[in-house]
Amino acid sequence: MHTKSLLLAACLSIAPLMAPAALAQGIAGSGVVPGTVANSAERPIGFAASAPANGVLVVLMSDAALPDLTAVGVGTGERAAIEAAIAGAKFEGKANATLSLRGIGAHSRILLVGTGAAPTMLARAEAAGKAAQEIKDAAPVTLTGAFTGAEAAEAGYGFALGQYRFDRYKTVDRKPPAADAVTIVGGDSAAAQSSFAARWRPLADGVRLSRDLANEPANVVYPESFVAEVRQAFAGVGGVTIEVLDEAAMRKLGMGTLVGVGQGSPRGSRLLAVRYRGAGANAAPLAFVGKGITFDSGGISLKPGAGMWDMKGDMSGAASTVGAVLSLAKSKAPVHVVAVAALAENMPDGNAQRPGDVVRTMSGKTIEMLNSDAEGRLVLADANEYVADKYKPRAIVNIATLTGAIVGALDSQYAGLFARDETLAAQLLAAGTVSGEELWRMPLHKNYAKKIESDIADVRNIAPSAGPGASIGAHFIGYFVAETTPWAHLDIAGMNQADSALPLVPKGMSGFGVRLLDQLARGAN
Ligand code: BES
Ligand code: ZN
Ligand code: MN
Repeated sequence: MHTKSLLLAACLSIAPLMAPAALAQGIAGSGVVPGTVANSAERPIGFAASAPANGVLVVLMSDAALPDLTAVGVGTGERAAIEAAIAGAKFEGKANATLSLRGIGAHSRILLVGTGAAPTMLARAEAAGKAAQEIKDAAPVTLTGAFTGAEAAEAGYGFALGQYRFDRYKTVDRKPPAADAVTIVGGDSAAAQSSFAARWRPLADGVRLSRDLANEPANVVYPESFVAEVRQAFAGVGGVTIEVLDEAAMRKLGMGTLVGVGQGSPRGSRLLAVRYRGAGANAAPLAFVGKGITFDSGGISLKPGAGMWDMKGDMSGAASTVGAVLSLAKSKAPVHVVAVAALAENMPDGNAQRPGDVVRTMSGKTIEMLNSDAEGRLVLADANEYVADKYKPRAIVNIATLTGAIVGALDSQYAGLFARDETLAAQLLAAGTVSGEELWRMPLHKNYAKKIESDIADVRNIAPSAGPGASIGAHFIGYFVAETTPWAHLDIAGMNQADSALPLVPKGMSGFGVRLLDQLARGAN
């Protein structure tokens, strides 16, 4: 890591008093960083065979029947009182239903959370995530249920995702959420601890990295500082190699779309590749290629002002590619993967691209750039060509906040899946169901591609008249991937942030794609 990156890394995490991030690159900006403290501490998560009867007790329930609670200090009288409350409230343990009780025994509060009948990993995790968001009490928490050790670990995972917070910029009347420990009781606690550490803590760390990167404003996370943050997150993690191309390197390779989208910004574009090769994983890598627009103003094709702030999250796809690889690497999964972040800031400027400009990708394909706000597909064109050339992947999965059109079609229920390869599509759909990050297959009819034929170049980046916007964007990206390479594209524009809290996703940036791509890599290897 060179000195600049060290300075950046220091500024971005917690360290203060160093050169402000903006100045490290020698560029515009006030030079005053918005904050130098970290997010408030999360509750540490541990596992034990029993817990004392104090603080908050959370019980996960798959129906109206209470599991055995002797290990968490609930005596016969207390148990009878809980059962009476369950009957009185007609609580049935339906998925994510809650019943909060106070004044029973020595616990300050008893929270019952339903998992629904025959709970899966996801149902268990969601119930625990729901509990994490529900409990504001400053008190130790005990969470229990009819668990095996492995199931207790899944509850720990859900709790970790549900308790995520991004509060580092709150300075006035800061009320950090409680950080008292959580003890999970049920099953073999040693098995629970090792399953959590080996599988679920790494995944929660990957999701946190993605959320943090996306929640950071664009004056903090821009291409160069995104790279610095990622380097820091991977420090000391084995089996990982990190490659970064700056603008000079990309220009040399002829990457005219990735450099071009960033040419209106003083904060230069970057291509970041993070490869992880697990022990014994000798097959070609699976490539995740993410859109990393650290701010999308639209460029000269400027977006309207209302809601433009949302576009600080236009690098969510890139953030989730590195988050997924962080999870796989920290858990030492026997897989070979590479995350590619196509990083640029899309700004209007005297040097910005003009609508109508013809630009060229690394392979020499030409694009008539009719709208500078259709920039995600542009950066992905060069990134896909680069990863194919350099890493010879066995499949490429793009992930991008690509179009408003996908939000109109699928809202915030599913990300859109576009695929030319049926096996890869099936694997992605299955990974979506298991992970809880669901996909819906969208069409790539060949006739849609006619709408992006250009009169003067190989292709144009928009269809000038109305059309199936998300499919057209997908076709454009696919134009830069060899037909022989299994390829899929995920349009996550409706999914990268939660307008209201879900059990595993507090309000804010969701980290969508980390859990999905993690599951895909594990399942497809
Ligand atoms: N980043 C946006 C897409 C987006 C919209 C993400 C809403 C999240 C929420 C993308 O770069 C964009 O501007 N797309 C245009 C494409 C159009 C110009 C063909 C769009 O969807 O309007
Ligand atoms: Zn965009
Ligand atoms: Mn745009």
